[in-house]
Amino acid sequence: MSKSRPYDVVLYGASGFVGRQTVAYFAAHGGGLRWALAGRNRDKLEAARQAAGPGAAHAGIVVADAADARALAALAGDTRVVLSTAGPFALFGSALVAACVAQRTHYVDITGETPWVRGLIDRHHAQAAADGTRIIPCCGFDSVPSDLGAAMLVQHFAAQGEPCTGVKAAFSLRGGFNGGTLASALNMLDSGQADALADPWLLNPADTRPPAGPTDADPVAPHRDADFKAWVGPFFMGPVNTRVVRRSAALLDYGPGFHYQEYLRFGSGTAAALMAAGVSAGMGASQAALQLAPVRALARRLAPAPGEGPSEDSMNRGGFRCELVGFGARGTVARARVAASGDPGNRATTVMVCEAALALALDARALPGGKSGGGVLTPASGLGVVLADRLRQAGMTLALVV
Ligand SMILES: NC(=O)c1ccc[n+]([C@@H]2O[C@H](COP(=O)([O-])OP(=O)(O)OC[C@H]3O[C@@H](n4cnc5c(N)ncnc54)[C@H](OP(=O)(O)O)[C@@H]3O)[C@@H](O)[C@H]2O)c1
Repeated sequence: MSKSRPYDVVLYGASGFVGRQTVAYFAAHGGGLRWALAGRNRDKLEAARQAAGPGAAHAGIVVADAADARALAALAGDTRVVLSTAGPFALFGSALVAACVAQRTHYVDITGETPWVRGLIDRHHAQAAADGTRIIPCCGFDSVPSDLGAAMLVQHFAAQGEPCTGVKAAFSLRGGFNGGTLASALNMLDSGQADALADPWLLNPADTRPPAGPTDADPVAPHRDADFKAWVGPFFMGPVNTRVVRRSAALLDYGPGFHYQEYLRFGSGTAAALMAAGVSAGMGASQAALQLAPVRALARRLAPAPGEGPSEDSMNRGGFRCELVGFGARGTVARARVAASGDPGNRATTVMVCEAALALALDARALPGGKSGGGVLTPASGLGVVLADRLRQAGMTLALVV
């Protein structure tokens, strides 16, 4: 990929709620790189650049609507890396990824729309792999903590000479809700994707799709988990994260029969048990209700609109912790933790996706598969320990617990 391209990184969707946070991140941490804000509206992009202060003063502006294939081809041809926060990705992402594949431009995003990712794999994996182009969706809160956390444990077992047979994770979190996230979730249901969302192996290569067993189905009820010494229940991000980790397990060959599952964690004791039962029942009921179009219409009216999200204060008070337990073939148990302060879907997501783009722009030779590695990948298979090290440098916890 030629260094003569005018930009190293283009931030697409830079005027959106998360997009504006990526601009602020690059203004603070993108020193030395040639970068630009991109999106459909020049005025909004200029306002986002202005709001990010002096660190963004030299950043370029690129105008390209998500439906304008010619403008997207020019955008992708003018940069080495695209970072996209323009969602719903099923509506605003497909032509951009196609342009990146055609121009051999690396790409990261923060989608959690797994049916859309499946489509990217089917359309682009072979070409991107042949060309050494890294197309890496799911580089935000879904699914970096799960994917890098599981990979960390698998690597730990491999270093001890003991295959890892499975990992499970339990999340605790405090955070707000973006209008763009709701719009993306509702768009998946509007377009009849419920069956795809429920497929535990949706993102696996065809020849690595095992017959699903009991440990692969998404949890629907709470239970007291002896490994976490806590009550756990279904985690609303689990149906995204588990698919991503299973794709990593296939691409990185974690071994036959490797299992991954994850949960929401509620402490121990009677109050936690009641909370687990209530939240799990509420989640099940709301998921069932959202299958109905009138309920989705009501949710759209009541929830924040696209472009809106939590207050600065609320985002600063947020945080998440992901506890992981890994199991070795000889009975060894190992533990790991991934954690960060700040709203998971905004503060932590911004750090994760921006560091993913910086890894592509600055550390290409050290990435998994070397300089020529490519395909529609996952955070672990496309960025691996390079991203983990960057996130530690940025203040996140990714550590084995001894
Ligand atoms: N992985 C995670 O943890 C995580 C966390 C948060 C969000 N997300 C996902 O990230 C996405 C964005 O979230 P958000 O809260 O930032 O949403 P948002 O504020 O609504 O931003 C959407 C962006 O898409 C742009 N856009 C809309 N239509 C377009 C078009 N025709 N052409 C080009 N750009 C267009 C918007 O541009 P304008 O500014 O011009 O309207 C805006 O920049 C959502 O899909 C959400 O689900 C993921």
